[in-house]
Amino acid sequence: MSDITTTDGPGGALPPGPIGVFDSGYGGLTVLRELRAALPDADFMYLGDNARAPYGTRSFDLVYRFTRQAVEYLFSRGCPMVILACNTASAKALRTIQQQDLPRMKPGLRVLGVIRPTVEALGEISRGGHVGLVATPGTVASESYDMELAKFQPHIRLSSRACPMWVPLVENMEAGGDGADYFVRRDLEQLLAADSDIDTIVLGCTHYPLLLPKIRRYVPGHVAVLTQGAIVARSLVDYLGRHKAMATAVSRGHSTEYLTTECPDKFAGMARMFLGTDIEARRIEL
Ligand code: DGL
Repeated sequence: MSDITTTDGPGGALPPGPIGVFDSGYGGLTVLRELRAALPDADFMYLGDNARAPYGTRSFDLVYRFTRQAVEYLFSRGCPMVILACNTASAKALRTIQQQDLPRMKPGLRVLGVIRPTVEALGEISRGGHVGLVATPGTVASESYDMELAKFQPHIRLSSRACPMWVPLVENMEAGGDGADYFVRRDLEQLLAADSDIDTIVLGCTHYPLLLPKIRRYVPGHVAVLTQGAIVARSLVDYLGRHKAMATAVSRGHSTEYLTTECPDKFAGMARMFLGTDIEARRIEL
């Protein structure tokens, strides 16, 4: 994962702690699942800011402020690194946190996002170089994917479609309902109409894998649909392989703690849907 250029530096001085994983709500659980599979002995601390989700339609300023609070909280709980398992937060807050906030914090702490690893993976996955992006209005408006692709995969032509209804459908347990078909079909048709040569569609929001059965229904068979969990996990394993001090700073107790800013029981119920297992959650305030 290379959302930042970093050296091991004084990171080795950090006491071991869990990897922080943050999302506005439940979507980051689709990333957490893959992170746990890739690093089964590592400890994780997942935080969903459910009380203030969705972030996708909020201003830059608010997304930055909320994300910074979450990152500061996870650092205060001993996480040596935080993964922003949220495209909206990665698009709107990551750069500012890395450039303005991290230098003022304890040396060695790191915050990584999900957009750069996805863009890096796209170079290998898209055969024809015509890529479609579905994401929140915030991620699309930020043009983060356009900018990263221009830097790292300039041969790729990107068409984007903001899907403001998709996250609320997932957050309200309507991903499998008939209403979801209307919005998924409409948005995908619009995206495919923008470029009929699209060969790969990126689900640029960590909530969207929950809509995958419906998405596949409205995407032609020859078009690949890319989810981010496994890509981010592979990238983190690679990152830890190259940054030994951070690898040492990750505690290895096979545990995951679940935190939410809203109702823990509701969180646990939704987490069952995302993870397929029972979990316990605790409520915190940011
Ligand atoms: N899961 C977040 C993402 O990847 C978005 C959810 C939201 O709008 O809060 O963009």
